[in-house]
Amino acid sequence: MPLVKSTDEMIVAAADALRRGELVAFPTETVYGLGADARKPSAVAKVFDLKERPQFNPLIVHVKDLDKAQELCSFSPAASKLAERFWPGALTLVLPLKATSGICDLVTAGLDTLAVRSPNHPVAQQLLDVSGIPIAAPSANKSGRVSPTRAEHVAADLGDEPAYVLDNGPCPVGVESTIVGFSEGEAVLLRSGGVSRDALEEVLGHPVKNTEVNTETPNAPGQLLSHYAPNAGIRLNVMAPGPGEAYLAFGPDIAAHSGPSYNLSEAGDLREAAANLFAALRILDATGAEVIAVSPIPFLGLGEAINDRLRRAAAPRGNS
Ligand code: TXA
Ligand code: MG
Repeated sequence: MPLVKSTDEMIVAAADALRRGELVAFPTETVYGLGADARKPSAVAKVFDLKERPQFNPLIVHVKDLDKAQELCSFSPAASKLAERFWPGALTLVLPLKATSGICDLVTAGLDTLAVRSPNHPVAQQLLDVSGIPIAAPSANKSGRVSPTRAEHVAADLGDEPAYVLDNGPCPVGVESTIVGFSEGEAVLLRSGGVSRDALEEVLGHPVKNTEVNTETPNAPGQLLSHYAPNAGIRLNVMAPGPGEAYLAFGPDIAAHSGPSYNLSEAGDLREAAANLFAALRILDATGAEVIAVSPIPFLGLGEAINDRLRRAAAPRGNS
């Protein structure tokens, strides 16, 4: 039974589960999160699978404090100011990812920025402290459902799948964190949430541009963000790649290919494929091939998100 009271013992057990690459749902001050080790692609793939997300939206990484966040990304003076004022708390900052961060591509959806926050909840803080892990955690609900503010909501939505659902009663804030990004050094509001725009403006001393989009609607992140697109062109549903093409294969029955190739999962496992996807695209792109030909990938489970990501990568450039 994964639903447990968030005692010290259970938090230690949950930290162990995270270390083993399992999922743990935990309370934050905003909503319950579905957590995974942000450095482990196979663990992060489970998050998308369990949420049944049709797309690989980038995830928020939770850290203990500003020091830990600075190990992962670069803080401008304005970003530091916001973190110092509002952390721990319901503010997420989108910042340039450091090359040494160790955060896997599946968390950032291949972007070179990272959404990071330090949650103000004793259970979340203790879990971060005991595990020492940067925890990637979207809201702990099935895609398209409302965010859970009680452990029972999580259990109703996700059943027995997380290793633990740490129950600490209702979340005090109850709406998601405010997300702030930076465009040419200026703070922009990407999602309104637990910290008001007024409060941000008071700290920054200037108005914060209203570029808010509803990041929960499926298309918004893709429209808003310049998603990682390979230099190579992408050709989908290819059984037999041409001689000059790189081949992104999937499954056991792949014919030998003379050019560079990478099999996302020889076993035909879609979780494994999702975990490998962004790294594989980078590796094949780095070979300098003009075209990456891609095997057909079934639209089952995570296959839908994989196909969505590939379709975007294959779309004509300059319009997203
Ligand atoms: O309150 C919260 O923020 C909760 C708790 C669990 O911390 N988490 C949460 O995560 O709401 P999620 O995955 O449901 O929402 C994350 C949002 C997504 O809409 C995504 O588009 C945006 O953050 N996001 C993540 N990384 C981003 C990036 N690099 N650039 C822009 N937006 C990003
Ligand atoms: Mg959500």
